[in-house]
Amino acid sequence: MSNYKIALLDGDGIGPEIMTEAVKVLELVAERNNITFDLIHAPFGASAYFECGHPFPEDTKKVCDEAHAILKGPIGLSHEESQKIPVDMQPERGALLPLRRRYNTYANFRPVFLPQGLAHFSPLKPEIIGDGIDIMIIRELVGGLYFGDKETGTTPEGVRYVRETLEYDENQIRRIAIVAFDTAMKRKKVLHNIHKSNVLKSSVLWNEIMAEVGKDYPEVRVENILVDAAATYLCLNPGRFDVMVMENMFGDILSDQGGGILGSLGLMPSACLGDDKAYYEPSHGSAPDIAGKNIANPYSMIGSVAMMLEMSFGMDQESKNVWHAMQSVFADGYSTADLSKPGSGVNMIDTQAFGDRVVEALRKLPV
Ligand code: NAD
Ligand code: IPM
Ligand code: MN
Repeated sequence: MSNYKIALLDGDGIGPEIMTEAVKVLELVAERNNITFDLIHAPFGASAYFECGHPFPEDTKKVCDEAHAILKGPIGLSHEESQKIPVDMQPERGALLPLRRRYNTYANFRPVFLPQGLAHFSPLKPEIIGDGIDIMIIRELVGGLYFGDKETGTTPEGVRYVRETLEYDENQIRRIAIVAFDTAMKRKKVLHNIHKSNVLKSSVLWNEIMAEVGKDYPEVRVENILVDAAATYLCLNPGRFDVMVMENMFGDILSDQGGGILGSLGLMPSACLGDDKAYYEPSHGSAPDIAGKNIANPYSMIGSVAMMLEMSFGMDQESKNVWHAMQSVFADGYSTADLSKPGSGVNMIDTQAFGDRVVEALRKLPV
């Protein structure tokens, strides 16, 4: 009987609410598959800073080090609340980026998926959605501007300045290129390489390495697209994309746009993979505007569980079952407030009820 240790980092804002629903699904998966998940909650984020004095406490690091996989809720506070925490202790700089660095989770998979039957969730017209949206954004997660040298200072003339550096070396690019080409091979054998080589030297090197790695994948058709144009095509013709690969900051922005074309960031789960460790999190933030109201969409968090089942535990069929269970809740005409605006024809249910319905649907599916 398999026994997996999973670190649960509830995070801030809606984090604990959507984590509760993900845990229900994990518990059912364990029961159905006759395996054990040791689920260990550990403080992380702004809540950890207020409780323990640090957003990524040593004890949490230990729990994560010892876990087979990590499931993380969103962290962060509203802009105003954030100001109450010293800049380097804010949960983005003090917890999230250190988590990514600690486990070198360079490959971030952010699926942007909406079947044709749910086209009404999207702000795009049905004729633009066509057969549905099915894109895998692969974002490099531990390089670029996020992790470059930074300097803040004042010139002798008294002018305040800041310098942030965007750095990539060929090894960092090559490993994410391999992930992207491998993913394209498993899908439609088309890869959109997103860059800005008309301005950035880092993109020139990025494209050179993409082309080099591409020689090992002659079956994959590569299209190189400038990031600004890609933003437009995502709205005008999302069907042209299948796998998209890009550097860290471009991936941050375009993946939120992905949530936008689906109709809600609540539909955006993700997987963050390193060579030795993986963690899973929604792509979105802590949604301070709706926190504590039991109205957040837990799809992103439960979808992150589905990605964990497949990518960390090799439970491919059960992962598909979890996706299927969530889609069946939508197909039955229910969703949370983000996707059930008055007049949409969708019945509004709360966070908890969404989780309950997923569990109910999963119970009915054969293991
Ligand atoms: P956000 O993603 O939290 O929210 C943007 C909008 O999307 C809001 O209207 C919110 O209500 C909605 N939304 C997000 N998730 C939802 C869900 N599951 N169901 C329904 N609606 C949902 O972005 P923000 O407001 O710019 O950021 C808030 C905080 O989150 C900031 O502190 C930011 O740094 C942090 N953040 C953390 C992560 C992370 O932990 N990986 C990611 C993004 C932002
Ligand atoms: C994300 C978030 C983070 C990022 C922030 C909170 C540091 O926006 O996971 O997309 O920019 O990577
Ligand atoms: Mn983001």
